[in-house]
Amino acid sequence: MKIIDLRSDTVTKPDRGMLDAMMRAEVGDDVWGDDPTVNALQAATAKLLGKPAGLFLPSGTMANQVAIQSHVAPGDEVILDRESHIFRYEVAAAAVVSGAQFNAIDGAGGFPSAPQIESQIRPADIHQPRTALVCLENTHNRAGGTVFPLDELRKVSALCRKQRIPIHLDGARLWNASVATGIPLAGYARHCDSAMVCFSKGLGCPVGSVLVGPKDFIERARRSRKLFGGGMRQAGYLAAAGLYALKRNVNRLAEDHARATRLAETIAAIPALDIDLAAVQTNIVIFDCARTGMDSEQALRKCAARGLWLASFGRTRLRAVTHLDVGDAGIERAGKVLRSVFR
Ligand SMILES: Cc1ncc(COP(=O)(O)O)c(C=O)c1O
Repeated sequence: MKIIDLRSDTVTKPDRGMLDAMMRAEVGDDVWGDDPTVNALQAATAKLLGKPAGLFLPSGTMANQVAIQSHVAPGDEVILDRESHIFRYEVAAAAVVSGAQFNAIDGAGGFPSAPQIESQIRPADIHQPRTALVCLENTHNRAGGTVFPLDELRKVSALCRKQRIPIHLDGARLWNASVATGIPLAGYARHCDSAMVCFSKGLGCPVGSVLVGPKDFIERARRSRKLFGGGMRQAGYLAAAGLYALKRNVNRLAEDHARATRLAETIAAIPALDIDLAAVQTNIVIFDCARTGMDSEQALRKCAARGLWLASFGRTRLRAVTHLDVGDAGIERAGKVLRSVFR
């Protein structure tokens, strides 16, 4: 039975063209700064995001953590959304490796508002931690791939600039936000001091993220990357996949978004399932199976037995993510499986 794997957009495998580009890469020792392909990917990504410099890292998690360490000192506080990846899924790394304390906010749809952030900024007081950083996520994974409204982002940015608090953007799927809205990547990044983007999600690369920001920030980040053990040698073989993906796999994300919408509409037509169609804005589809009497683990097993792999996203919530390895026929079949499991 052919499996339709919609657990995540991280499950994609490099295609022949990407593998060929990787094989042909010109490489050097990147810890010494002399891998031309890594340098090219860093420069291209920084340019796309409108920042002076970039740094290639093995994962999105390391890119976020290196960014945090480059912004804060031990004992500082970081304001972020309670459902953000950095808060939920990075093993409290900022506390372990950077001595940072989190102050988590319940942002609407994953997006903390300027007044919410303002209410949490610490006064100058020797008893209290210093508010040193705000982290935002766009698109927001746990909210269902939702796009940060630009007006709201502008307000958050104006507040943080006034208060001299830097903003780091977890843009693992910023590509999706940009393709969905037509707003250039730099249109989002300009409201943030640093940003990271992932190549290993919707863009289909096996590995890699790039962190961008001002030159002095990236110099500090290079040092943190070494501390984390993330300095790689002939990493150009991996960066070549990123350069290939920038040319071929960004604009096609619109196909993933259209398929996610179709899948969401199929789910909405199944009476026992609940879904918020307004939250399906990019390639992530989250739905609830509580009214079927099954929990998400039971539902996952039933779908898997029919060849459809989804991810559990809470006691009765399930997530499907569309990506470049599942085409129209796969989405058709996924719909059939869902109809038969949840009818
Ligand atoms: C929003 C977001 N940020 C960061 C990451 C971390 O990326 P990685 O798995 O490469 O560490 C993910 C991974 O799924 C993510 O969804």
